[in-house]
Amino acid sequence: MDPLKTLRDNPFVLAPMAGITDHAFRSFMKKLGSSVVVTELISATGIQYQSQKTIDLMSFGEDQRPVGIQLFGEEPEVVAQAARFAQEKGADFVDLNFGCPVPKVVKKGGGSAILRDPQAVRAMVSTVKKAIDIPLTIKIRTGWDAGSRNAVEICHIAYEEGLTWVAIHGRTRSQAYEGKADWDYIAEVKAQSKIPILGNGDVLTPHQAIERLRQTGVDGVMIGRGALKNPYIFVDALKIWRGESLSGDNRDFAALFRELAECIQARCSEHITQIQLRKFAAWFATGYPGAAAFRKAIFQSTSVSETMETSIAFFEALRLAPQEDTSDERFLMGGHG
Ligand SMILES: Cc1cc2nc3c(=O)[nH]c(=O)nc-3n(C[C@H](O)[C@H](O)[C@H](O)COP(=O)(O)O)c2cc1C
Repeated sequence: MDPLKTLRDNPFVLAPMAGITDHAFRSFMKKLGSSVVVTELISATGIQYQSQKTIDLMSFGEDQRPVGIQLFGEEPEVVAQAARFAQEKGADFVDLNFGCPVPKVVKKGGGSAILRDPQAVRAMVSTVKKAIDIPLTIKIRTGWDAGSRNAVEICHIAYEEGLTWVAIHGRTRSQAYEGKADWDYIAEVKAQSKIPILGNGDVLTPHQAIERLRQTGVDGVMIGRGALKNPYIFVDALKIWRGESLSGDNRDFAALFRELAECIQARCSEHITQIQLRKFAAWFATGYPGAAAFRKAIFQSTSVSETMETSIAFFEALRLAPQEDTSDERFLMGGHG
């Protein structure tokens, strides 16, 4: 399935988030209007050694198509072989992580470290591109640090090497998750690039997603943490973009949460289900009355059934409650991109 065609029909893309956008959550978000989806970052070395844990991260469902497998690594040949393996597994595209700021990854030359050396970027993407027939995309930061922002050059290389798009998280590696994503810079990169661009960073509402799309001219908007605070962000953005009216009053958070629980339970052990459900319930509660007490209660719950009972009671009462603006609060300030 062609990811670029899907992006043209729906420009709102779920950002990859390690430990969050797993098989279950991707299926859930796909039903809730996300365009293409991508796995979290997966180690090319792990694939080389056929680590079962690594290979499990690559699994996806037919309902998720078009789906990309995101790889990270340092050695072009190793990443190329992993990309070929992803293609054999049936991925619709391969995405390379050039944005991870985490020291453990960067120290070895993986993630955003490569942005310091555009020739290394060229060597990596051209080696991987030659190894596969499916589309290749990359996800980058604006640069290594404020003095060396080079997204325009990286996008130029990506275009010359025949990649399908570049997703840009609007922060440098040095910023980690501090400060604000620089959408003015993303707009500049878009204006100077021939390759399709996905802008990413700090989009928390469907209206912001539309505004970013219109003001910067990007081809897609990638949304990560915003989907955890508002799982309806994709359906709503898509409706506004298509000129349809929003039906916010009919929100049924409790039914939504039950659906998510089903997706997770279908794939995960009781223990993992409990961990995941508690996290998602806590995130979805953001900005609603009683969220703090609710979080305390679910983090004390000792079983899936107790977590579900507490969560459903909370979400049922929410139906018409307005969500407060929490954009100034710190929220998940660390990740792999
Ligand atoms: C917990 C967490 C895990 C992340 N894992 C990944 C990852 O595996 N691959 C990646 O490219 N980006 C990863 N990111 C970065 C996001 O894709 C995104 O670029 C970043 O969160 C900014 O977008 P947002 O403000 O919409 O969340 C992660 C972010 C978070 C918060």
